[in-house]
Amino acid sequence: MSMNEYKPLIVAFCCNWCSYAGADLAGNNRLNYPADVKIIRVPCSCRVNPMFILRAFQRGADGVILCGCHPGDCHYTSGNYYTRRRMSLLFSMLDYLGIERERTRVEWVSAAEGAKFAATMNDFVETVAKLGENKRLEDLRCKK
Ligand code: FES
Repeated sequence: MSMNEYKPLIVAFCCNWCSYAGADLAGNNRLNYPADVKIIRVPCSCRVNPMFILRAFQRGADGVILCGCHPGDCHYTSGNYYTRRRMSLLFSMLDYLGIERERTRVEWVSAAEGAKFAATMNDFVETVAKLGENKRLEDLRCKK
């Protein structure tokens, strides 16, 4: 890998009860995924207001992934069903705004799926890296 190879900045929202534990397990099992994935722990995937995702893009994220418990396994019973509905609406809005669909993803990862967590992150980073930098919603006031 060359020194100035482009590395996308990825924000990963992970619910505390499954996906964050899955990320932990990936770490404990020494499974690699890029360090440019910034994990934000949330109590439940439904805590993620779609505005958080738009804001992440404004602040320079190249891709945003939202991970939660598998359907039926949410710690709060139905939080991830809200997430699923909300995200499908957000996907249409992102289409309208001209943000490539591949820059956002929803994935269900359980606490036992450390390998799935690492594989998902590697695949997502690779996909976003192919798209290049996200300039579409960038807010220049957020630039350092
Ligand atoms: Fe994991 Fe609700 S607690 S999605």
